[in-house]
Amino acid sequence: MEATVRDVRGRTLPLAERLGHGAEGHVNRVRDSPLAVKRLFLRGSRAHHAGLLEERLRAVARMPIEDLPVARPLVMLAEPDVGFVMELLDDMVPLEQQMLPPYEVELVAWYLATGGLRRRLRVLARLAGTLAALHSRGVVYGDPSPGNVLVSEPTDQDQIWLVDPDNLAVESDGSRSAVYTPGYGAPELVSRGSRISTLSDAFAFAVLAHHTLFAAHPFVGDEVDDGPVELEEAAHAYRMPWIDHSEDRSNASTLGLPGRQRLLTRTLTGYFRATFEEGLRAPARRPSCADWATALWQAVDALISCRSCSGHRFAARACPWCGATPGSDLVCRVWLHAGPDVFSLARAEEAPDPGRVVGARGWNIPAGELVAIDSGRPFELTARHGEIRSDDPHRPLSTVSWDGGSRVRVANVGVRAVLLVSGDGQVHRRLPPGRDAEIELRPDVPPWRLCFTSDPLSPHRQVTFDVVGPARTGR
Ligand SMILES: Nc1ncnc2c1ncn2[C@@H]1O[C@H](COP(=O)(O)OP(=O)(O)O)[C@@H](O)[C@H]1O
Ligand SMILES: [Mg+2]
Ligand SMILES: [Zn+2]
Repeated sequence: MEATVRDVRGRTLPLAERLGHGAEGHVNRVRDSPLAVKRLFLRGSRAHHAGLLEERLRAVARMPIEDLPVARPLVMLAEPDVGFVMELLDDMVPLEQQMLPPYEVELVAWYLATGGLRRRLRVLARLAGTLAALHSRGVVYGDPSPGNVLVSEPTDQDQIWLVDPDNLAVESDGSRSAVYTPGYGAPELVSRGSRISTLSDAFAFAVLAHHTLFAAHPFVGDEVDDGPVELEEAAHAYRMPWIDHSEDRSNASTLGLPGRQRLLTRTLTGYFRATFEEGLRAPARRPSCADWATALWQAVDALISCRSCSGHRFAARACPWCGATPGSDLVCRVWLHAGPDVFSLARAEEAPDPGRVVGARGWNIPAGELVAIDSGRPFELTARHGEIRSDDPHRPLSTVSWDGGSRVRVANVGVRAVLLVSGDGQVHRRLPPGRDAEIELRPDVPPWRLCFTSDPLSPHRQVTFDVVGPARTGR
């Protein structure tokens, strides 16, 4: 390995250790600097390679993505190398290294030690959100894969970063043949030579999400796992059904974590099915990365820590790790308030279907998004919950703390006043920014609500607080 490279501005860069390599190149740290260098493997003539890469990287430099967690090329390397200089991502490791199961490991213990379900859902929600943001700007990532997504090395954090920026493409650019990772590339890339699209990104994302959440690849069933390499190739070319196919059980799997459906919300279960069944041949049937981001954040919201083990469970559902039955959980339901009558909803528990709520005048409408609160761990409601339309969904609005009994404290950490309204509508408490207040939960009266507005008659989002027991059916 040569110890230095030069960039096209004439700077000499001393290389330190190798950070990784993929199918296309090596990545090294630059000694004593916050930079990394990627050198591509040379195939064919250098001039041809360098020209193409430069063109692509120039296009990437023009993309409006400075604010997204995507590694951006800073400057090209000079001859004889083909490659570029980029920012070094310190304290981050490839997802494959940290979140896909190593061989011979006690699966559940390893899963919980690497952040469990909550961290995986959060990492995937951030990844889906980043892909969706690229898509909304007309950019396709191209190769979402476990080696191209970096995650925080400390397992109490959940940041993500995308590397491999030489794959980024403008949606309408059809000039380049697709680069994909076997087992993750969408069927139309693998067998029809189609070009990459937002929907091929969504397919690869779904495979990655499945693999990460369940420690099982969605197309690798027991026979594929045990069988000859040809079977694996068939699975990676999607000539076999996915492992949880609703009719065809020929590729069933006992690999990974048991009881997959217990680890998901109904929406997420439906998204996997839509992607791997109808969406296999019909890309337009796949949920988009924006759909995934929304559903994954909603799943994160509904999750609480189990009081009997170190795992996470969904509110009002048994713990998937230790089987503990749910006690009483505090849930907030997020509603869109569009008219004065929404205030007269009956309590959610009285509805025969926990996914629906029966109103005082006999309405039957879908229950609002559910946010579960751990006792003793304040929950931050953000613009995602409290604003109808938001430029920054993660901006904090209010924190909610529950003592495990009948007391809930609400602190306004946003920049606008909010209203706390008693269930009978008699008490209105205005909470300016920086102030907090305590409310009492009482089973005999309709729940308090927190309104993200100071004008209760304008359209706004509101949150009701309610203690619920075990659900009769899964969410
Ligand atoms: N900017 C970076 N900072 C730290 N590590 C990186 C960086 N870019 C890439 N890596 C490491 O190098 C590996 C290969 O990089 P990548 O660009 O994906 O190469 P390839 O195109 O060959 O797949 C990544 O999986 C990651 O481990
Ligand atoms: Mg790569
Ligand atoms: Zn448990």
